[in-house]
Amino acid sequence: MAFQITFQPSNKIIFSDQDESVLSAAIHQGVNIPYGCRNGACGACKAKILSGQVHYDTDIAGLSSQEIADGYALLCCAKPDSDIQVECRELSSENTIMPKIFPVRVEKLERLSSDVIAMFLKVPVNQPMHFFAGQYIEFILKDGSRRAFSMANPPHSGEMLELHLRHVPGGKFTDYVFNELQEKTILRIEGPFGSFYLRNEIDKPIIFVAGGTGFAPIKSIIEDLIFKQNLNRPMHLYWGARTAQDLYMANIAKAWANHIPNFSFIPVLSSAENDLAWSGRRGFVHQAVLEDIQDFTDYQVYCCGAPEMVKACLQGFTQQGLSEQDFFADSFNYAASPPAA
Ligand SMILES: Cc1cc2nc3c(=O)[nH]c(=O)nc-3n(C[C@H](O)[C@H](O)[C@H](O)COP(=O)(O)OP(=O)(O)OC[C@H]3O[C@@H](n4cnc5c(N)ncnc54)[C@H](O)[C@@H]3O)c2cc1C
Ligand code: FES
Repeated sequence: MAFQITFQPSNKIIFSDQDESVLSAAIHQGVNIPYGCRNGACGACKAKILSGQVHYDTDIAGLSSQEIADGYALLCCAKPDSDIQVECRELSSENTIMPKIFPVRVEKLERLSSDVIAMFLKVPVNQPMHFFAGQYIEFILKDGSRRAFSMANPPHSGEMLELHLRHVPGGKFTDYVFNELQEKTILRIEGPFGSFYLRNEIDKPIIFVAGGTGFAPIKSIIEDLIFKQNLNRPMHLYWGARTAQDLYMANIAKAWANHIPNFSFIPVLSSAENDLAWSGRRGFVHQAVLEDIQDFTDYQVYCCGAPEMVKACLQGFTQQGLSEQDFFADSFNYAASPPAA
């Protein structure tokens, strides 16, 4: 049975099947609402249910019991049990690209560090993949489960997708990638997904904060800005990693700092006690940003990496004046069984 979903205040109406989440229905019917992980962990799709009932088939870590009591829901996991009305911030429909399922060929696998591989995927020639810099794709595994990885290349080179995959020891997909996957293998992906892309409406200086492979979507955004020669806003890139070898593309970031006016690159290492050659910043990356910037009122922040880092950035920066409206993040949650689209 299909249920009617009405978004407020726009009054847009869509329909979802009983087993489809509100977010999945919205994505496939062109309603652009903010979201990130699609598995109930990051909280980016939080919205208020004004009327009607929803249920969840999975755990929803991204919502507190108080928020549930106050009528909030995570739209990526909430499935309607009746017609519902949802109060929800919508993004511009100009920023909507319908996700599609693509077969892709693994063109090249390149070790970038002891636990990061760059994977280059060729999409079919007659089906170029359109996306916004910063978005991600999901691999569809044989059992139907999905794994999310962000594009590291800019959209204008969309016939070849570049991904940076960190090995999760014991992780189903990355174990396979690191131990078995061969070049020329055909995989299935769906995308693009996500609302982690640059907001150009205002010209505030940008702080990029990357943790580990959180560098990937930020690289996509910066290379897109370079391609479009849209480099008027001052940009500060903080890249946090454990050791120097984990800054697997530091040379690219240094080249940006050398060539782009008003661009600074601040690498920060958290586990480099024994690295006496390291003369750069030490500690957690969010702390380095907080040391450098006392008042965030006039900044926009784009933050990507481990959930703990993203939370620490949001908390620390908003305490020092950042508006939540100026904080954009993709939280790299682990996703053993995200909901099917
Ligand atoms: C929007 C989005 C974009 C992403 N983009 C990227 C990207 O560009 N690059 C990238 O490297 N990753 C990215 N990730 C994270 C990536 O999707 C996960 O790491 C993925 O689950 C790994 O798949 P896997 O099958 O190897 O591991 P899984 O089979 O999912 O295994 C992970 C399981 O192991 C456990 N686990 C193992 N290690 C940890 C740990 N350190 N912390 C917590 N739990 C752990 C968890 O219980 C989890 O269920 C992204 C995630 C999201 C949501
Ligand atoms: S919790 Fe819904 S998108 Fe992350």
